[in-house]
Amino acid sequence: MADRNRRIVLAAVPVGMPREEDFRMEEVAVPVCAANGLLVRTKWVSVDPYLRGRISGVRSYVAPIAVGAVMESGAVGEVVASQDPAFQRGDIVSGFWGWQEFDAVEAAKVQRVDPREAPVSTALGILGMPGMTAYFGLTEVCAPKAGETVVVSGAAGAVGSAVGQIAKILGCRAVGMAGTVAKVNHVKSLGFDDALNYRTDKPYKDVLARMCPKGIDCYFDNVGGEFTDAVLGLMNVRGRVAICGQISQYNDRSLDVGPRPFTPMLVKQLRVEGFLVSRWAGRFGEGREQMAGWLKQGRLRYEETVYEGLESAPRAFIGLFLGENTGKALVSV
Ligand SMILES: NC(=O)c1ccc[n+]([C@@H]2O[C@H](COP(=O)([O-])OP(=O)(O)OC[C@H]3O[C@@H](n4cnc5c(N)ncnc54)[C@H](OP(=O)(O)O)[C@@H]3O)[C@@H](O)[C@H]2O)c1
Repeated sequence: MADRNRRIVLAAVPVGMPREEDFRMEEVAVPVCAANGLLVRTKWVSVDPYLRGRISGVRSYVAPIAVGAVMESGAVGEVVASQDPAFQRGDIVSGFWGWQEFDAVEAAKVQRVDPREAPVSTALGILGMPGMTAYFGLTEVCAPKAGETVVVSGAAGAVGSAVGQIAKILGCRAVGMAGTVAKVNHVKSLGFDDALNYRTDKPYKDVLARMCPKGIDCYFDNVGGEFTDAVLGLMNVRGRVAICGQISQYNDRSLDVGPRPFTPMLVKQLRVEGFLVSRWAGRFGEGREQMAGWLKQGRLRYEETVYEGLESAPRAFIGLFLGENTGKALVSV
């Protein structure tokens, strides 16, 4: 086994759009496996939009990653040493650890991944946190009924692509929004009834009104901004809005001031609810079983955009804000 460990640390708190210079590669000794712990060799690193908040220098729902500290996110790896009898060398596990080739992790904080069930990278995507976000956010917060219309922003991404497909499984009309023609065609190929390109298909309200002739019952928002303003104007009475993400604003240096949403909320009696997927952490087993079942039946499909090598992790992360990924953005280490 190698005795050196390459890792990526936060070099500076990004201002606005993150740059590759905000990260730095270091080489250190391989960490030591603690009592009751595991030493894992990282196979996959997940890059996710929420990491923008974690490198902003301020606390949101978790503490920020400090300058000089190792970047960390969801990861999948192989156990190379185990001090816990429940795990053997060669086991595949997922959890949260550093953007590094090796990490020492607590056995209690990882989940076993069964490579026979699905490719292990899916533990970071459709069968992992983004998949659970789509499943619980849609079914619990939007709670769509068959025949209703569901609109999802960020539709070609890890969460959004799953939301539209689940909406179809539940018997709804699914309409997506994405940033390129290729992505629009991709989500239609996944079974979405319609989709618009937010860069060209304007005014949003007119385009959406044509795509949603019966109005909008559920809105699953990953993006925020002007698109949300248009959707709110088309919501049906007693519609439900799940605020999952606001990626269009994560790099903003000042607060976005748009139309205030309270009038459409009032007159259409909307329920608008923000959520964090951790709310359903105790039910992830149930969510995974349902999503894995749909995958096996071919009713659910997923896409991955893979960046090669640990050194590409900063680029992969920045790519999220440039729309480089279709489906789950991952780094193969
Ligand atoms: N609440 C929770 O617990 C939870 C959990 C997971 C994720 N989330 C949120 O869910 C959203 C999607 O996450 P994900 O992991 O599935 O990421 P993702 O959608 O796979 O990747 C990000 C995508 O966002 C789009 N985007 C980037 N900047 C944009 C902008 N200014 N305006 C419009 N679209 C933009 C890009 O697609 P285009 O090419 O279409 O622009 C990009 O590919 C994020 O907002 C994330 O923070 C929330």
